[in-house]
Amino acid sequence: MKFDLPSVLVSIKDGVIDLGWGHPSSRLHPTEAIRIASERLLASDDSTPLQYGATQGFGPFLESLSGFLSSQPAYGMPVDPRHLFLTAGASQGLDLACTLYAPAGSTVVVEEPTYFVIEKIFRERNLNVIGVPTDSEGMVVSKLESLLLDGLKPSLLYTIPTYQNPTGICLSNDRRHQLISLANEFDFHILADEVYQLIYFDQLPPKSLLAFDEGNRVISFGSFSKILAPGLRTGWIHSAPEIVKKFSDAALTFSGGGFNHYSSALIREVIDLGLLDSHVSILREEYSIRSNAMHQALKLYFGNEIEYTHPSGGYYFWLTFPKGFDANLLLPLAERIGVSYRPGNAFSESGSFPRQIRLAYTLFEVEELEEGISRLHEAYSKDNNGASLK
Ligand SMILES: Cc1ncc(COP(=O)(O)O)c(C=O)c1O
Repeated sequence: MKFDLPSVLVSIKDGVIDLGWGHPSSRLHPTEAIRIASERLLASDDSTPLQYGATQGFGPFLESLSGFLSSQPAYGMPVDPRHLFLTAGASQGLDLACTLYAPAGSTVVVEEPTYFVIEKIFRERNLNVIGVPTDSEGMVVSKLESLLLDGLKPSLLYTIPTYQNPTGICLSNDRRHQLISLANEFDFHILADEVYQLIYFDQLPPKSLLAFDEGNRVISFGSFSKILAPGLRTGWIHSAPEIVKKFSDAALTFSGGGFNHYSSALIREVIDLGLLDSHVSILREEYSIRSNAMHQALKLYFGNEIEYTHPSGGYYFWLTFPKGFDANLLLPLAERIGVSYRPGNAFSESGSFPRQIRLAYTLFEVEELEEGISRLHEAYSKDNNGASLK
């Protein structure tokens, strides 16, 4: 008997250009690189990748990864392989960080808006979540400082410093320094979710937040989901040796050995063959073209009706519509017209973003992006709520 169970995370309705998902396009999946790397891995008589892996991660993988990151100008710092830890993706690493650093009932600070699943991850850990506003330079660190001076005692602070999800903004260098000093002064760790760090377009982003760390405060999370393939479920943590040791000694790690050991052995081949470097270059080039196409289409159809910052890297546009607009109300009409997006209030429990929407330019081809924006404008023009504003 067949049950027709789903194969992938998201099923997009036929005919809908769903700009709500920050997933890579199937056309860009590196199938050839994975085939070559798999052949090389399987040609060897070494069965080590099939054994339980070392708790910190497969050593040869950590060495190759350190070489790769050190060679990336966007990462901005040399990486010692002993400071890396293998994860099954950033999500898994972040969840494990809660086990190790955030006792139930403690408080985690997040940016407002922030990655739409992270608040749920923290809630499932019985953590309190406090949002700090962001502006064009990222988290407003002075606001955080006031909260800390008023007695807030977070166990952790979660930030996406580079090409933030959903706003696309980078935390400025000054604020990076200020954030680290606050972490030292008020004694909390910073979870720096840096999964978009390497996807820059014309200009290099600020260095990894870890490069600003003085005092072993930063735990940086990287992932192959955004630079190779999310199905590999592999990522890494980069941090001080004492922090890496804590992750390596966790009971979960010890029980199962290094997370996603086999995938990491495969990725090591991809890196050593130079195929990760070339794939990241392809993604940067292609996503830059797509973000420009989305920008042009937004200009063409919406003109001055909406506000946004053209992202300089990452996956997203964050649009602000005029006062009175409600992104949740427009959504059903937009989907009937054949386009979808993620409403702003999905990215914050505060409910402060009814007139914002997030669009991703990574999943669809240029022509589809143009058509998607044209449909979005059609929906906006037909929408009573929107129409009353014009
Ligand atoms: C900021 C951020 N963190 C983490 C993830 C998930 O990462 P992974 O696939 O490595 O678990 C995403 C995916 O969209 C993301 O945008």
